[in-house]
Amino acid sequence: MGDTPQDWSEANRRWWDERVPIHLASDFYDVEGFRAGRSSLLDFEVAELGPVSGRSLVHLQCHVGLDTLSWARLGALVTGLDFSAPAVKAARELASSIGQPATFVAGDVYQAPALLRERYDIVYTGKGALCWLPDLEAWADVVVTLLRPGGALYVLEFHPFTDVFGDEDLTVGTRYFHTSQPLVWDTPGSYVDREAATTHNRTNEWGIPWGRW
Ligand SMILES: C[S@@+](CC[C@H](N)C(=O)[O-])C[C@H]1O[C@@H](n2cnc3c(N)ncnc32)[C@H](O)[C@@H]1O
Repeated sequence: MGDTPQDWSEANRRWWDERVPIHLASDFYDVEGFRAGRSSLLDFEVAELGPVSGRSLVHLQCHVGLDTLSWARLGALVTGLDFSAPAVKAARELASSIGQPATFVAGDVYQAPALLRERYDIVYTGKGALCWLPDLEAWADVVVTLLRPGGALYVLEFHPFTDVFGDEDLTVGTRYFHTSQPLVWDTPGSYVDREAATTHNRTNEWGIPWGRW
């Protein structure tokens, strides 16, 4: 595996592609419960964003579409984008199985304006999305391009400070600010199942951009 931004992205995409079936079968994502009507959104997200009925919403890094389709159930006109083709395929199948209109597009978040060619009332993202992105300023440019004038960005994200500590205790395990190089992990399984058998285990992630925040 090489050491360019393209190599980092490819490794990450392989990691996600391989986890899609594991996630679809997991209690963590509870797809059957979702099909039966469960929302994957947290109450405070729905309260903070307010009524979405009839508003267009694009979900960046939508994974298998649970959050996207939860917004659709509340009346939003949704589009989800993710660079994992198996995730997008699963999201389309899920939308069709619950009879919920939705558009799902496969592609890199940095290519979203070119791929989507639309502007939206709401850009939504979160819960483990931003750590995969090497350039938050370029991501912010993407968001600005995707939003209609007066539109809203809603981000629900884990604070990167939590990544500084090890899994077992509060020993400092990794640096807080990132450099031009990613934080490289090589861990089998997934956060939904640490024992899951996997072969693509290397990821490249980012914390707080040094000197910008
Ligand atoms: C933890 S999920 C976040 C979605 C949602 N919170 C969830 O848990 O279902 C992260 C998603 O980001 C996607 N992703 C990572 N880097 C990406 C990129 N550069 N462009 C598009 N999608 C990307 C992955 O494929 C994955 O589906």
